Amino acid sequence: MIKICFVCLGNICRSPMAEFMMKKKIADLNLSNEFLITSKATSYEEQGNDIYPPAKRKLQEKNIPVAYHSATRLEKEDYNKYDYFICMEQRNIQSALRIFEKDPMNKVFRLLSNKDIADPWYTDNFEETYQDIEEGLNKLIVKLKREY
Ligand code: 4NP
Repeated sequence: MIKICFVCLGNICRSPMAEFMMKKKIADLNLSNEFLITSKATSYEEQGNDIYPPAKRKLQEKNIPVAYHSATRLEKEDYNKYDYFICMEQRNIQSALRIFEKDPMNKVFRLLSNKDIADPWYTDNFEETYQDIEEGLNKLIVKLKREY
């Protein structure tokens, strides 16, 4: 079982988009039983809130199933529960490392190694965010296929 936690600031836009997009890709590969996929926030700002409606609409426009969601902050105890913490931007990595205090097993990564995923909460550009997450997830799947 490969356990992946996507991470962003609020857990209502980018990381739940990545979670549901990845779940669809894994389901299409008939690998749902091999993966545990979730998403978390580095802040308590949106704790308990659903995915932001425009993010949900973008996923529905792309035929990606969206399930129940309740924004949850990343906690220190999560470190041992997942294999990868895939962050949307560099500052999420810094926040995750503050929460975990250290990353001895090298589990914390940025989704796109060369670029932050822009926050549509501020840009209002959900298509650009969708396209960047799509690119990142396709690269992540190639990497996972190499490693497993
Ligand atoms: P996200 O976007 O990190 O992609 O979920 C945000 C949503 C809300 C806030 C920040 C980022 N907020 O501070 O309320």
